[in-house]
Amino acid sequence: MTAGPSVAGRAGTRTLRTDRWWLQPAVTVAALLAFVVYATIRAFANAAYYAPPYLSPMYSPCLATNCVPGASDVHLVGDWWGLSPALLVLVFPLGFRLTCYYYRKAYYRSFWASPPACAVAEPHRRYTGETRFPLVLNNAHRYFFYVGLLFNIVLSYDAVLAFRDEHGNWGHAGLGTVVLVVNALLLWTYSLSCHSCRHVIGGRLNHFSRHPIRYRAWTLVSRLNAKHMRYAWLSLFWVAFTDLYVALVASGTITDPRFF
Ligand code: FES
Repeated sequence: MTAGPSVAGRAGTRTLRTDRWWLQPAVTVAALLAFVVYATIRAFANAAYYAPPYLSPMYSPCLATNCVPGASDVHLVGDWWGLSPALLVLVFPLGFRLTCYYYRKAYYRSFWASPPACAVAEPHRRYTGETRFPLVLNNAHRYFFYVGLLFNIVLSYDAVLAFRDEHGNWGHAGLGTVVLVVNALLLWTYSLSCHSCRHVIGGRLNHFSRHPIRYRAWTLVSRLNAKHMRYAWLSLFWVAFTDLYVALVASGTITDPRFF
């Protein structure tokens, strides 16, 4: 019988690696921190999130009655809500990203140092994996995936609405339209490349030959899945960029170039 790694061995062994193994976790910390700081500031700002017809993805769907006029037709939350409407919805995409298998790897390594890199000892003396609170919540990823699909539908709808002008007439397209469409496409690509999506489509099958359509879909999703890390970063960056673009237009800092 083979013994597992001892506690002393996990905590006490030094790495023999001589390359710059610390670089990737350091860059990950910097990038994720930058996003968290930006998203927090913008979520609490409660301003410059709607530049007709563009709605920032951080405030969509805008569900409170205190949303700026035109930002939404559906107000599920009444006058009692006095905070930023972004705070009502951001918890869902946040939960989706936090429980994502790729981001788990990223923040376990970069923030938790558990372990910081392959063949590098971690500083913790005990290891409980994802069996305890709060990390046990990561097992809910599949449910966040389903909710994330609903958000993708809403943000795709926002991208379609971006083909109207500020008066509601169809046939408009500006740079903001392109920004919102790319945002929706990247979010769909991120979701479709998700490990849970791959399992939903092709999991629990004993014979692919009896399910040719699911096999074909699984093959496509598997190709996307191989690049999930790339889509995770691209979509994260683009959400922040889209919000920034809408904020700059809404505040009058820049003018949205119109194509037609
Ligand atoms: Fe990353 Fe599901 S594994 S979104």
